[in-house]
Amino acid sequence: MPLIKTKKSESVSTPVCSPRISSPRLPKNEKLTPRKNIGTCPFKNLTSSPQPTEPVKPKVAKCPFKSITLNSYSDNRSFTETFHTKSVKGLGCNQMTCKGSILKEGLIKLGQQKDPLLSKTENIDFLKQYYEAFNKKGSDELKERLKKSELNQRSTGQYDLTFDELEFACRTAWRNAARCIGRINWSKIKLFDGRHCTTTKEIFELLCEYLKFATNGGNLRSAITVFRQRIKGKHDIRIWNAQLINYAGYEISETETIGDKSQIEFTKICEKLGWKGKKKEFEILPLVIQVNGKKPDVYEIPEELVMQVDLIHPKYEAFKDLKLKWYAVPAVSSLVLDAGGIYFNCTAFNGWYMNTEIGRDLTEPNRFDKLRVIGKVLGLDMSTNVSLWKDEVLLELNKAILYSFNKAGVTIVDHHSASESFVKHWENELRVRGGTPGDWIWINPPLSSHITPIFGMEMLNYVVKPYFEYQEMPRLQKKSIKFKILVKSLMPFLISALKKIQNRPKCCILYASQTGKSKNFSEITFNVFKNIFNARILCINEYNLNELDKEDLIIAIASTTGNGDSPTNGKTIQELMDKIKKKEISSENCGILSKNYSHVNYSVLGFGDSTYCYNFGAYPKLIDKFFKTLGLNEIYPIDIADQIRDEEKTMYTWLKNSLLASCTQYKDKFSVKQNEIDLLLESKLLKTKKFRLRSSPFNGPKTQVNNSCINLSKIYEKNLKPFEIVEKEVIGFQPNNEKILRIKLRSKGFDFNFIPGNHIELFGKNRKDYVDFILSRLNNNPNYDELVKFEIYDERYSSGSNELWLSDKKYPIMTIRQALTTFFDITKPLSQEALKMLASQALNEKDRESLEHLATDWKAYEEWKSDYPNLVDVLKTFFSVNPDINTLLAVLPHMKSRFYSISSSKKVAKNELDITIGVYQYESVKYNSVHYGVCSKYLEDASIGTIIPAEIIVGNKFTMPDDTSIPIIMICTGCGIAPFRSFWSERAKDMELSKQINDGKVFGEFILMYGCREKQKDFLYMNELESLRESNVLTGFYTAYSRDPNYPKEYVQDKMDENSEMLKDLILNKNAHIYVCGKKILASEVIDKLKAIFSLGDYFESMESIDSYINDLKANNRYHEDLFNT
Ligand SMILES: Cc1cc2nc3c(=O)[nH]c(=O)nc-3n(C[C@H](O)[C@H](O)[C@H](O)COP(=O)(O)OP(=O)(O)OC[C@H]3O[C@@H](n4cnc5c(N)ncnc54)[C@H](O)[C@@H]3O)c2cc1C
Ligand SMILES: Cc1cc2nc3c(=O)[nH]c(=O)nc-3n(C[C@H](O)[C@H](O)[C@H](O)COP(=O)(O)O)c2cc1C
Repeated sequence: MPLIKTKKSESVSTPVCSPRISSPRLPKNEKLTPRKNIGTCPFKNLTSSPQPTEPVKPKVAKCPFKSITLNSYSDNRSFTETFHTKSVKGLGCNQMTCKGSILKEGLIKLGQQKDPLLSKTENIDFLKQYYEAFNKKGSDELKERLKKSELNQRSTGQYDLTFDELEFACRTAWRNAARCIGRINWSKIKLFDGRHCTTTKEIFELLCEYLKFATNGGNLRSAITVFRQRIKGKHDIRIWNAQLINYAGYEISETETIGDKSQIEFTKICEKLGWKGKKKEFEILPLVIQVNGKKPDVYEIPEELVMQVDLIHPKYEAFKDLKLKWYAVPAVSSLVLDAGGIYFNCTAFNGWYMNTEIGRDLTEPNRFDKLRVIGKVLGLDMSTNVSLWKDEVLLELNKAILYSFNKAGVTIVDHHSASESFVKHWENELRVRGGTPGDWIWINPPLSSHITPIFGMEMLNYVVKPYFEYQEMPRLQKKSIKFKILVKSLMPFLISALKKIQNRPKCCILYASQTGKSKNFSEITFNVFKNIFNARILCINEYNLNELDKEDLIIAIASTTGNGDSPTNGKTIQELMDKIKKKEISSENCGILSKNYSHVNYSVLGFGDSTYCYNFGAYPKLIDKFFKTLGLNEIYPIDIADQIRDEEKTMYTWLKNSLLASCTQYKDKFSVKQNEIDLLLESKLLKTKKFRLRSSPFNGPKTQVNNSCINLSKIYEKNLKPFEIVEKEVIGFQPNNEKILRIKLRSKGFDFNFIPGNHIELFGKNRKDYVDFILSRLNNNPNYDELVKFEIYDERYSSGSNELWLSDKKYPIMTIRQALTTFFDITKPLSQEALKMLASQALNEKDRESLEHLATDWKAYEEWKSDYPNLVDVLKTFFSVNPDINTLLAVLPHMKSRFYSISSSKKVAKNELDITIGVYQYESVKYNSVHYGVCSKYLEDASIGTIIPAEIIVGNKFTMPDDTSIPIIMICTGCGIAPFRSFWSERAKDMELSKQINDGKVFGEFILMYGCREKQKDFLYMNELESLRESNVLTGFYTAYSRDPNYPKEYVQDKMDENSEMLKDLILNKNAHIYVCGKKILASEVIDKLKAIFSLGDYFESMESIDSYINDLKANNRYHEDLFNT
């Protein structure tokens, strides 16, 4: 529903909190000038502005002002406001957007607890305020009270206020209510202390007493009733009504309603709870009161306690025929009193009406919608707007309201008098406190606002505590979305299954993951399967394969890395399969191979990249083959989620189908229908990642907070170590003039090993300007430089308003800025799940629709994604989206590590290594933005001395044969030369040593075929290579230039062509090893060229025999590829 509608149908409107105005006084663009643009520093964008027509430039620097000059344009006066310096938070506005008109910004959620630290600070602040108000600032009494409060907190886990303190809190909260025009009476509100009430009956009785006092036979008195505060671990006490007195609303048909439309939903709740409405207009709703998390109780308010006024008009007799009426006491019962570090979430308080309030309630389309009916009785020309009939109706209605209330002796105030008294109050506050917060939009009466003195006044809107906040209303739970209820109602078979956990089929989720994707999805899969199966989750290396026959169901999820290899944590199956292949083991000598597995069901999902054509999904396919070899029963065929296309679609389709197949397999134990699976998936997937951030003091060693190595290792289960950048050199330029660099890294205080061809896996950081932009767009202006801990929602122990949040140990304590800089990926196009989340937070209907379309339409999504929009592009496009940080982090993927080939030899320098890096840059056409590669750009910008968290990855097969006499053919383009520098450095060193000791070692052919664009621009390590050729380390060196005006246009494949006889001889006759490195496209081109070369002459009989020969080369570890996954 669009927000504006919610706002209109909102029923919380009293003179205490006067409503919004009918027309803004400034042109649209000027509404975004600093007036309401109050962020963490509420005055940072504000300077005195004598000329309202001159927009003030927002200042981003730290605010130097302590006081702000506010002007009153209607009478040319100026005021100096200082009270805003006491503000604790802004409105959620930022430098780009103003949230001044948003109705319920910062809504307190059901069960939401105050952060303990904040609670403590607020409690101290409040007590100081209280004692200061009674001229006891810094007194011994205050010190004593603070001590007592602290002790009380320690022994009972909560703060408490005395009656006087609570009454002071209520009065001050009213005084601070920025939207209320009638605050002049703030000091007179009387407190009804209901903190002792524990039953709904006690609560109801006190509310009746309170109503009687407030009504006072028509001579209304401001009062407030406060019930027990919110306590962690206890159910809230709640009044479900928005106001104690409200009229019911009924939907009779699609076009016909009776009563207050804004109360239709609540009326239905009352009826569901057993109340019987008479379906009449102006029918008083019962009170709905809840304690102990139980079903709420319903109480009719005694008739004599509800004073109502029949509306008549002093001039129009017929007006009374409309039978309009309104109640006397506007008692708001939906706000939280936030005072003394405590949430008093159950309160009811009242002032008295201002006529325009009732006028609005009776005429707004989403309330009583009486504009036309009244217009008709008044005999107005309603055929045209030009007759101003609407304005006339409002005027006459307001006259009738004032006339009727006065005649009935019921307190009411007209909007002119209310405005004048507000100005008095305002001036008084400036004198006494240095100001008071004011929400201009709300304070201005909705009728004739510009002729009230308020219209020309500048105000500052900010939050000072104690304060009244909006809160989420408790409602009957919707059955369709609660999984636990779904289980109860749709799958009774599961109840027995859930009870008898032991009897549920066993399911083991096995994963192998290099960069974390398979692991993340395994966790999602586990969260789904554990609802039906007796499930556990392990990485393949941790799993004891001897126990495979004891399982019922195996779900394997794995990626491929290296040259079609298993990730590091999935080696055991690969090793076993190698041994089977080499016939080193058989059922005779290996227990694992001799067992019967026909009762064990399985399904495999792979993650891979189809540009690794030959090795696409090689490892998950190997796992599948392993299970087949053992004789397990495949229940759903293997699928590979390809990161190039349809990755998410494949993985979620596989999840759904494998779950369905698994349930079908055990249908004798239970049966599950397709739509139930859908619901299960929907509810589980949404819940898996529900987490929130809580501010947290960090008590561990100081260094740990900023130690990316420790923190990243924790998240990724890696052993990252600090490497320092000690040298940087530009060695070439890419076609778009981005640099190619050689960077030297040195280990900080530890030794490490590697051989030529190994990699370093390292983590970069996101760009500061991206992070700053995202921070500026976050909802609620969170303090992004404060340390926070991550908490995860525990669905098992949470229900209704009682939510259990456990700290998520995976994430270290960090700031939001650090999270967005180091731990989360903000550059990858968002997933559909993330777009869905953003859609739900869009304030603009069009933004919401567009985002929802992308989130649900695969084709549109894929097309959108192909332009590589990042989060910044998205936020710039969808301007009304200000994401909530908790949900944003829940849907952002983790920052991925990057691999770089080591470009140096350990034999040359110990504990140092070189890498060769090409900086990535792309133009995103649709978004008109330039994207840089996260890691390469970070490394380019990083200064000498920067510490990089990294791990050396050894054990890949892209390494030189131990036998130095075996010929080596190296083929590469661009930065693909990187690993070969480690090859030739090592070879040069080996040759030098061999010469020194004269050991007669034979060194076979050492050939490099290199493709680059222009000799002077991107011929990397040219001088080094020339000297290697001269010293015969390189026995053959061939360079192809594809764009150099001084050379023929050639590719590396042409060099292969030119030297085809030599290549054939080395490969076919001399057992040469071939190494290919560069972008993935190169791999297939080299293979094609090789096939073409082999097909010349009569060495092979057919293309099939060539294919099979090349496959053998790969299988025998003579053909190696190291491909960069971009
Ligand atoms: C085994 C291995 C070894 C490697 N060795 C080296 C090496 O020695 N030297 C080296 O320089 N690199 C090497 N790489 C590549 C390296 O790991 C990184 O992938 C590379 O540096 C880019 O990372 P990045 O963080 O800078 O870019 P990223 O932030 O990862 O961005 C690059 C990615 O974003 C995509 N992208 C972003 N915006 C756009 C757009 N507008 N249009 C199209 N695509 C877009 C690209 O498809 C690409 O996948 C190696 C990779 C592997 C797997
Ligand atoms: C160094 C490296 C080598 C890769 N080799 C292959 C491969 O041979 N075949 C393949 O299908 N995918 C390959 N990939 C792609 C990964 O399998 C893919 O990115 C996958 O989504 C990673 O999942 P993970 O995070 O669970 O490891 C490779 C990726 C990297 C970084």
